[in-house]
Amino acid sequence: MKIAIIGAGNMGGATARGLATGTVFKAAEITVSEPNKETLAKIKADVPEINIMTDNLAAVADADVVVTAVKPWLVQPVIEGIRPTLAKRRPLIISIAAGIKFADLNGFLADDTFQLVSVIPNTAIAIKQSPTLIAFNDKVSDENKALVKKMFDELGSAIIIDEKQMAAGTAVTSCGIAYAFEYIKAAMQAAIELGFYPHVAKAMIDQTVLGAVELLEHNGTYPDTEIYKVCTPGGITIKGLNEMTKEGFDHAVIAGLMKAAGK
Ligand SMILES: NC(=O)c1ccc[n+]([C@@H]2O[C@H](COP(=O)([O-])OP(=O)(O)OC[C@H]3O[C@@H](n4cnc5c(N)ncnc54)[C@H](OP(=O)(O)O)[C@@H]3O)[C@@H](O)[C@H]2O)c1
Repeated sequence: MKIAIIGAGNMGGATARGLATGTVFKAAEITVSEPNKETLAKIKADVPEINIMTDNLAAVADADVVVTAVKPWLVQPVIEGIRPTLAKRRPLIISIAAGIKFADLNGFLADDTFQLVSVIPNTAIAIKQSPTLIAFNDKVSDENKALVKKMFDELGSAIIIDEKQMAAGTAVTSCGIAYAFEYIKAAMQAAIELGFYPHVAKAMIDQTVLGAVELLEHNGTYPDTEIYKVCTPGGITIKGLNEMTKEGFDHAVIAGLMKAAGK
């Protein structure tokens, strides 16, 4: 089975590199197409077996799966440019583009019978740790649903949702990684004021956040359960927590996510 990835930037490049070391496609079955020859050369240097080209039409010529990973405003011209070949080969089409809906893709394809998948990873796809949101249109076969789930499980964790939940999910995961970094940044500022060098503060907070996530996963618990385990009655943790709530921490996080989701 062959896959063509059009656009080799943050998302497309990481997808190609990640899939090349996975089990779904052999590296030699992956073709990446992109106008920037330097970007292509870097991919080739990382994974010599991957096929690289600057011609999108040639890239999709024998593809069973086509991934478009270009900026949202380029999806239409890119799809229109490869449309004759898509019409002949009928590959599974995976779109990685914020805000592009199945109705848009059907319009660009001038055909509403393609199997379409909408995918939103976050930047942690570069280290195979992305929560990847996936929506299928009603044409996708069960076999292809399983294939796509496996592809993105190997690049982190595939999360299947409805197309109508994509904007909300994008706020939580794709934007959400920035909010997680913002917590780490704020905690670092406090730790530095408390007398730690930045590299020591970062080491402490990185491992605290990593450990928190691992604990939730390991114990299968929600945050409240783990929070109350740390809160000695009348102790320092609950004092800090209540101060954060008073200063609007919870409200700021909720309001920020709502804003990002357009609510
Ligand atoms: N970045 C994120 O966190 C994130 C998260 C979720 C979803 N997304 C979605 O993922 C998509 C890609 O984003 P990105 O961050 O990967 O963008 P990016 O880093 O700019 O990558 C896009 C790549 O496409 C190339 N390209 C431009 N025109 C092309 C064409 N006609 N044919 C083939 N390739 C072409 C670009 O080359 P040049 O640089 O030479 O123009 C660039 O390397 C976007 O639609 C975005 O909404 C991004």
